[in-house]
Amino acid sequence: MYNQEGFGGGGHAKSLRRREGKSFMRGNGNQGYQAQAEYIARMQDYTSAFAREKGRAPRCFVRTYGCQQNAADSEKLLGLLCQMGYAPIGEQHDADLILFNTCAVREHAEDRVFGNVGALKGVKKRNPELVIGLCGCMMQQESAAQKIRDSFPYVDLVFGTHALHRLPEFLWKKVSGKKRVFDLTGEGEELVEGIPLRREGSLKAGLPILYGCNNFCSYCIVPYVRGRERSRDPQVILEEARGLVEQGVKEIMLLGQNVNSYAGAGGVDFAELLRQVNGLPGDFRIRFMSSHPKDMTERVIDTIAQCPKVCNHIHLPVQSGNDRVLAAMNRKYDTARYRELIAYARKRIPDVVFTSDLIVGFPGETYEEFLDTLALIKEVRYSALFTFIYSRRSGTKAAELPDPVPYEEKSAWLRELLAAQEEISMGINTALIGSTCTVLVEEKSEKPGRLLGRNEGNIITEFAGEESLIGQFVRVKVTAAHNWAVEGELA
Ligand code: SAM
Ligand code: SF4
Ligand code: F3S
Repeated sequence: MYNQEGFGGGGHAKSLRRREGKSFMRGNGNQGYQAQAEYIARMQDYTSAFAREKGRAPRCFVRTYGCQQNAADSEKLLGLLCQMGYAPIGEQHDADLILFNTCAVREHAEDRVFGNVGALKGVKKRNPELVIGLCGCMMQQESAAQKIRDSFPYVDLVFGTHALHRLPEFLWKKVSGKKRVFDLTGEGEELVEGIPLRREGSLKAGLPILYGCNNFCSYCIVPYVRGRERSRDPQVILEEARGLVEQGVKEIMLLGQNVNSYAGAGGVDFAELLRQVNGLPGDFRIRFMSSHPKDMTERVIDTIAQCPKVCNHIHLPVQSGNDRVLAAMNRKYDTARYRELIAYARKRIPDVVFTSDLIVGFPGETYEEFLDTLALIKEVRYSALFTFIYSRRSGTKAAELPDPVPYEEKSAWLRELLAAQEEISMGINTALIGSTCTVLVEEKSEKPGRLLGRNEGNIITEFAGEESLIGQFVRVKVTAAHNWAVEGELA
């Protein structure tokens, strides 16, 4: 189970999308990746000269702060850096370039970035040639970028989500003498394809199918920093998936803020895309994240039921179990429709497992309304929850609502929720004892001679086995349960 990691309060400035300040370069969002070829060539000359002088390639470190989309963006940043001649390293110590790919979803995520950037001051003092860059969702907000510009003078590069593919251009400007490079491209949300990727890990891969979000849930900053929905071409997605399977990837996670609103070329919707990815040859399984309940359909559920490679696991974030709160959140479904979807999936998909995201303490939420959420989780019985205390995001609709309940009280509600969820997870895992499940073996456990993997329902499974099984699907008979995992033996 995942505990909350963010909390509300604080606030930033007004305009989230327009960057007119003259200190910011007006970015050209229509420049595709091809336009970067010239800068890549110049950077390759730069890194070759660096290597001749120092006897090694320049080292880069990229840190991901956010969700799977953010992690997928980091794979592109690393791909571009490798193409330019940088050598990636796993920690910031000894790096010649440090790039933080930031997240803005909750205040806590932003505080972590500011804290970690603050800690780089001394590092830069000791090594003035170090290049420090910040990019990602947080940097797409003018207020955060201004704060970096004014209070962290040793940060060299700042660019937002829409300008990611222009990293070669920004880096070239920096290494060829520009003191600082700030680009915050408000527009230019076009789809940029063809960026090389460098993936971490070989067994599981995230595969973005659409970017951006159109939903404007009233609490959420994502639509402001990620722009409107753009679906990738289904052929490009299929080719990427095929390539991943050929490279040995065993689990593909189709990614989008709302995969159910995927609208690909040729009228391919999400159900059809699932069917086509399922049809690719090879021994692999498919997950997807996230599904917005307003766009989840019986057709998608039928497709999950019919496609053997698609896991029997649905992450269906409900956010609240109270209809007034759901309406105030602008979620565009009610609990009756949500229950209908759960019931239909239970009927169509044997052993289906549900997980969800929940927000506690939305502005104006009362304890009685919170109790509706508690009742819903007891009814649906999710195997795991991602729970968050509401965090005020400046510029969103909810930020303007009165929010009288103190943080301590919201924390108490969250503890109540987590206690109930622990019991539910324990119950679900205990019910698995005696059954046999298919597990993708991912790594060694900390306990000698034991391995860790996840079953189809994404439940962590530990069992005794040879290391050579890592990367394979095995059948495991469940023998014991905890609230965060099950244990078993090879069947
Ligand atoms: N697009 C996904 C969806 O609608 O389910 C969610 C993406 S968001 C990155 C992940 C989760 O963060 C949301 O489901 C929500 O629970 C939580 N979240 C978003 N904004 C929040 C806020 N202002 N305060 C607390 N939690 C928030
Ligand atoms: Fe945020 Fe809602 Fe979009 Fe999810 S669907 S990213 S919660 S606005
Ligand atoms: Fe993801 Fe954070 Fe951006 S959750 S979309 S990295 S604001």
